[in-house]
Amino acid sequence: MFPVTESPVLHDIRAAYDAVAPLYAELFSNVLETLPMERAMLAAFAELVQAHNAGPVADIGCGPGHVTAHMHALGPTTFGIDLSAEMIALARRAHPDLRFDEGSMTALDLADEVLGGILAFYSIIHTPPRQLPAVFTEFQRVLAPGGHLLLGFFAGDNPLPQEFDHKVTLAYRWSSDSLAELLRQAGFVEVGRLQREPHQDERQFPQAQLLVRKPLAPPGAADTRPEHDTGP
Ligand SMILES: C[S@@+](CC[C@H](N)C(=O)[O-])C[C@H]1O[C@@H](n2cnc3c(N)ncnc32)[C@H](O)[C@@H]1O
Repeated sequence: MFPVTESPVLHDIRAAYDAVAPLYAELFSNVLETLPMERAMLAAFAELVQAHNAGPVADIGCGPGHVTAHMHALGPTTFGIDLSAEMIALARRAHPDLRFDEGSMTALDLADEVLGGILAFYSIIHTPPRQLPAVFTEFQRVLAPGGHLLLGFFAGDNPLPQEFDHKVTLAYRWSSDSLAELLRQAGFVEVGRLQREPHQDERQFPQAQLLVRKPLAPPGAADTRPEHDTGP
């Protein structure tokens, strides 16, 4: 048996991202400037995290750290975690004032309920679908009650996850409904979602974001109130 962090799948993902890290950073470090809808969801996430004030945000699968820095600038104290040592080295170089740690979303080196938010922007896309429920359970463990999770991913209509030949390494796209159901089974409550069509220079797939939160109440006493339930 491999320890979780040394599984062949994680080894392959790490090796693939180590190999492309400088090119990835060059291509994507400024990409948020051209993505107003992503920025809108990131801003909503930041506001909700700050309103709950339950702890820092971990950007898990942070790559070269541009989304980490964007989130930190919006207000919540944010640090990055990535499987790839090369990505972490680039992130530290680009953002020396921020914290970046090597680690895997499958076994986070974090105590229970210490985070106010988790960002996982296009980082669960490489996780084999059968392993994703365990990752979401790990996210539940480290999130404080009321903490938020924002996922970015390639979308599709098929209810089953679809493998595709991502340029770096094997990846999967999900329908928002299927991923939302998996998150619900892991104990999360949906807050909102966004799906947009791809731009000309992107892959042909729609791009989606799902925003969910860990309930304040313990399991069994379901807290399913919508956010800011102050309306009439
Ligand atoms: C497509 S890149 C996304 C990077 C960045 N979040 C962005 O939006 O540009 C996927 C990143 O997830 C990281 N990753 C993949 N599986 C991971 C895991 N199990 N734990 C931590 N990071 C992981 C990869 O090393 C890579 O840096």
